[in-house]
Amino acid sequence: MKITGRTILITGGSAGIGLAFALKFLELGNQVIVTGRRQTVLDEVKAKYPKLHTIQGDVADPVQIASLATRVKAEYPRLDVLMNNAGIMLHKNLKVPATDLDGLMAEMNINVGGVIRMTSAFIDILAANKGTVINVSSGLAFVPLPSAPIYCATKAAIHSYTQSLRFQLEETGVEVIELMPPAVKTELSAEIAEGDGIALMTADQLVKQSFASLKTGALEIRPGQAKQLALMRRLAPDFINRQLWKASKKLVPVGLG
Ligand SMILES: NC(=O)c1ccc[n+]([C@@H]2O[C@H](COP(=O)([O-])OP(=O)(O)OC[C@H]3O[C@@H](n4cnc5c(N)ncnc54)[C@H](OP(=O)(O)O)[C@@H]3O)[C@@H](O)[C@H]2O)c1
Repeated sequence: MKITGRTILITGGSAGIGLAFALKFLELGNQVIVTGRRQTVLDEVKAKYPKLHTIQGDVADPVQIASLATRVKAEYPRLDVLMNNAGIMLHKNLKVPATDLDGLMAEMNINVGGVIRMTSAFIDILAANKGTVINVSSGLAFVPLPSAPIYCATKAAIHSYTQSLRFQLEETGVEVIELMPPAVKTELSAEIAEGDGIALMTADQLVKQSFASLKTGALEIRPGQAKQLALMRRLAPDFINRQLWKASKKLVPVGLG
């Protein structure tokens, strides 16, 4: 991927992995726009990093996506990178009925619906500008962390969707990259502790490893333990599945669906 002189939109770029990528892209001489749901957080980010452009928007809401697309296409006609990064992770107890059946789909709406809708809403400008789509899935697309069953299913779905997207866009000149991070220290992973084979890297370490791969033109980036998960899934699937269950059993909420 060409990593300078681009105009880049990062969903969920107000914190964690998205913000770390935004700052690196900024440092490399790109124009970067970040989104998030909370205006207060975006305001704090803007005050700290005035060169970042911020726009409020929820990727789970089709109406907000449509207005974001209209605004970005008008204000940033050279937009040529979309990084679908916004995501949430919830630990769930599947043994009892959920109290909120609609809420049960929150991760599907954001992690899957958000990526699919955002890509569709921006595909025309990305094709016109021979751009790049970066979908952030997870090493958990390969092997689930059973305490977060829906989250892992969303990441497996994005892994599959991204492969199809790459084939369909082959002749359009749009490059499709999948970033599959391992466990990274952010708000999203706050409940996950090191141990039982799980190691957490910092967002800056993720950025460093990912940019090394982006520069080589890699289309599927599996930093740190994500690479090991992919390998273990092939070599010893039963072992690695059970290992992740052992590591995550204590994260299953007691009594809550
Ligand atoms: N951390 C990890 O261990 C890890 C590992 C593998 C993959 N990932 C993936 O990396 C991505 C970023 O995760 P992270 O760890 O950086 O999470 P994070 O620190 O919790 O940050 C999430 C960002 O997304 C935004 N966001 C959440 N829901 C949104 C929505 N509906 N619409 C727009 N923005 C939304 C948040 O801002 P608001 O809350 O204000 O909206 C925030 O800016 C996710 O896709 C996650 O699945 C993370």
